[in-house]
Amino acid sequence: MSSVARQPVAEGFDVERLRGDFPLLTRRVHDHPLVYLDNAATTQKPETVLRTLDDYYRNTNSNVHRGVHYLSELASAAYEQAREQLCALVNAASEREILFLRGTTEAINLVAGSYGGACLRPGDEVLITEMEHHANIVPWQLLRDRCGIRLRWVPINEHGDLIWEEYERFLEGPVRLVALTHLSNSLGTINPLRRVIQTAHAHGAVVLVDGAQAVPHLPVDVRALDCDFYAFSGHKMFGPTGIGVLYGRESLLEKMPPWQGGGDMIKAVSMEQTTFNDLPAKFEAGTPHIAGAIGLGRSAEFLAGLDRAAVLLHEQQLLESALAACKEIPGLRVIGEPHARGGLFSFVLEGVHAHDLGTFLDHRGIAVRTGHHCCMPVMRHFKIPATTRVSFALYNTLEEVQILARALLEAQRFFH
Ligand code: ALA
Repeated sequence: MSSVARQPVAEGFDVERLRGDFPLLTRRVHDHPLVYLDNAATTQKPETVLRTLDDYYRNTNSNVHRGVHYLSELASAAYEQAREQLCALVNAASEREILFLRGTTEAINLVAGSYGGACLRPGDEVLITEMEHHANIVPWQLLRDRCGIRLRWVPINEHGDLIWEEYERFLEGPVRLVALTHLSNSLGTINPLRRVIQTAHAHGAVVLVDGAQAVPHLPVDVRALDCDFYAFSGHKMFGPTGIGVLYGRESLLEKMPPWQGGGDMIKAVSMEQTTFNDLPAKFEAGTPHIAGAIGLGRSAEFLAGLDRAAVLLHEQQLLESALAACKEIPGLRVIGEPHARGGLFSFVLEGVHAHDLGTFLDHRGIAVRTGHHCCMPVMRHFKIPATTRVSFALYNTLEEVQILARALLEAQRFFH
C-alpha cells in the first residue's frame, strides 16, 4: 500500500536486532511468516527472560524465605532482587510498595477486597470509567454488592476520550476511590493521568491505575504520577504469565488488612490469633510464583535497558502507518480517535464479522484479537458487537504493517 510510508526510524533503534532476541517471532503460521499483532493480549518473550526461567529451574529452584540452606538463600535473594528491579522500573519509593501477585486482575481484586472492605463505607462512591476492562469493573461491582458502596462511571465521548466535565461533576459527590486505565486495551486511549489524579486528590479520593497496557510502552513513574495504586502484568511486558505487580503507597498498604491468609504473611500464629508480617510479605500468602517473579525482574531489566523514547517513537510510527493504510480500505472504520493513543487500535469492516476477519488474517499468518476485548461497555457505547484489534510492540515492523494492509484489502474484496 502506498500509504504505508517508509518513515525514518528513531536514531539508534534497530528493530531487526531486537527481533533477533525473540525466538518465537521466527516461526511460521499456516505456511506464512508470523505477523504477531496481538501484543495487547500478551507479548512474546526475549531470550534473556527465557534463559532466566530455564536457569532458575535448572540451577536454583527452591522455596523462598523459608530455608536456611544454600539454594533457598539463592532463590530468596533472586526473588527480592526482582522486587528491586520492579521498584526501579516504576520508580517506587521502596520495595515494600511492590507486591508480587498473579497479575493486574488479582491486583485490582486485592485493592477492592482489602482497601475497599476496610476503608470504604456504605454510601461511599467508587468512580470508574466507561472504557475499563472488565477486570476494573467486576471487582467493584462485587464490592458494591457486598459492602453497599455506590459504583459510578465517567462516560466517554465519540472519540473514545473521557468526558472531563462529567469526571469533575462526579467528583462533587462522595467519591472515595477512582479506578481507571492508563491506556485503554480496546481503544488505545491514553488517559491524562496526572490531571486525573491531581483532581481526584483535590476531592479527597485515592486513585488506582490499571497500567497493564501502559508499562510495556510508556515510561511509568508512580511518584511523578502521585498515584496511590498502580497494577500491571508481567506477560504484557515481555515477562512470564501468572505474575504481576501491585504498586501501593506504603501509608495505604500499612493500614490495609491482609487479603489472603497463609504462610509467609505471618509473624506468629496461635490457635486463637495471628500477628501479620511486615510489607510486602503481608500481602504475599503462600509460596509465590518464584520463577515468574525472577523472570519478570529480568523483563523489567530488559525494558530499562532500552531507549524508551525511541521505542515509543517506533510504535507511534507503526500506528500512524497502519491508520493511514486503513483509511484506504473501503468500509473500514477505526473505532475512536482519542487525543492520545498508544500503539493499538480497533476497527470494524462493514459487512464482515470480526471473527471471520480474524480467521481470514490468521490464515495469512497474521495474529490479531477479535471480539469485545473484555470491554463490553465500550462495544455498547459504539453500538457494535465486536471489533478487530491490532496491537503493536517494539519488535513489529513497517513491513508487517504492509502485510496487514494488503491482507485487509484482500479481505475486503473477498467478503464483498
Ligand atoms: N486484557 C488482554 C487483552 O486486552 C487479554 O487482550
